[in-house]
Amino acid sequence: MNMRGNGIQFVKSGGYIKQSVANGSILNLLVQSKGFEVILHEVKEGHHWTIGPIEGWDGIEFIYLLSGSLSWLENKTKMIASTGDHLIMDPIRKDTFFTAIGNTTFLYVSTGPSFDEYNDQIKHFMNLAVAVEEKDGYTADHCQRIKDLSIKTGEKLGLSSEELYVLHIGSFLHDVGKTKIPDLILNKPSKLTNEEYEQMKKHTSLGANMLVETGIPTLKRAALIVEQHHERYNGTGYPYRLKGNEINLSSSIVGVVDSFDAMTSVRVYSRGRSLEDALEEVKQERERLFHPDVVDAFLSIMS
Ligand SMILES: [Fe+2]
Ligand SMILES: [Fe+2]
Repeated sequence: MNMRGNGIQFVKSGGYIKQSVANGSILNLLVQSKGFEVILHEVKEGHHWTIGPIEGWDGIEFIYLLSGSLSWLENKTKMIASTGDHLIMDPIRKDTFFTAIGNTTFLYVSTGPSFDEYNDQIKHFMNLAVAVEEKDGYTADHCQRIKDLSIKTGEKLGLSSEELYVLHIGSFLHDVGKTKIPDLILNKPSKLTNEEYEQMKKHTSLGANMLVETGIPTLKRAALIVEQHHERYNGTGYPYRLKGNEINLSSSIVGVVDSFDAMTSVRVYSRGRSLEDALEEVKQERERLFHPDVVDAFLSIMS
C-alpha cells in the first residue's frame, strides 16, 4: 500500500485487507472504514450467496455485478441480475438466497460490518460441523454434499428464497450437536449399546440449542432443521417421534439426503453401497420413513 501526499491510497491488485474462502465463494475485503465496507465477491457457477435482515440493524447494502449473473426468487418469480446490473437493499427485509449463473463476481458495499458478521458467527459453526463429521467417519465434504443436494431438492419442491436461505445453513450444520457427544461414542468402530445410542440421539436437540443460544435470527431458524433431521414420516424417528406433515419440510429434505449420503459413504463400519442400491432404498422408504414429495423431488434431481 502506498500513501502519497495527495491522500490517495493506491492498493495493487490482490492487496486485500482480509480474504475468506468458503463453499465455492471467495470474499475479498477491499475497504473497511468509517461505517462502511466494500467486499469483492467471487461466487463459482451454481454456488450460492445469501443476505438477510439483522435484528436492530437497518443499513444499506449495494451490489454491482462485474461478471456473470445472480438469480433469486421474488415471491415465486425468478429474477436474474446480470453483468452491469446493480441491486440496492435499503434495508433488506427478507432472507434472500442467490445462485450464481456462471462464475460471478460482484462488488458488495454495505454500511454494516457484514464481513466479520458472516465470518465469525456462521463460519465458526460450519468449521465445527465439518470437524465433527470427520470424527464420525465421514469425509470432509459430507456437509457440503448434504447442503448442495438439500438445496437442489428444496428448489425442486418450490421452497421460497427465505426457506432456501435457512435450509442451506441448517443442512450444513445438521450434525453440529455431535460436538457435545463423547468421542468414545462418536469414534466407536463397533455397534453402539442401547444406552450409547440414546446418548447419540441427543445430538439433534443439543445442536438446536447451540444455534438458538447464539441469538442470531438465521441460526435460530436453522435450529428447527437441526432438531428434526432424524424425525421420520411414519413417526419412528427422534427426538419427538413426529409424523408426516408435523415434520418441517426442510428437515424432511435433510433427512432423506443425509440417509442417502450415509448409505453411499465409506465409513469404519460400512463399505458404502452403490448409488443404484441407495436410490432403490430411498424409493422403497417413500411414505414409510420419508415424505413422498421429498422422495419424488430427490429422485428426480438424482436421475
Ligand atoms: Fe444426525
Ligand atoms: Fe450427517
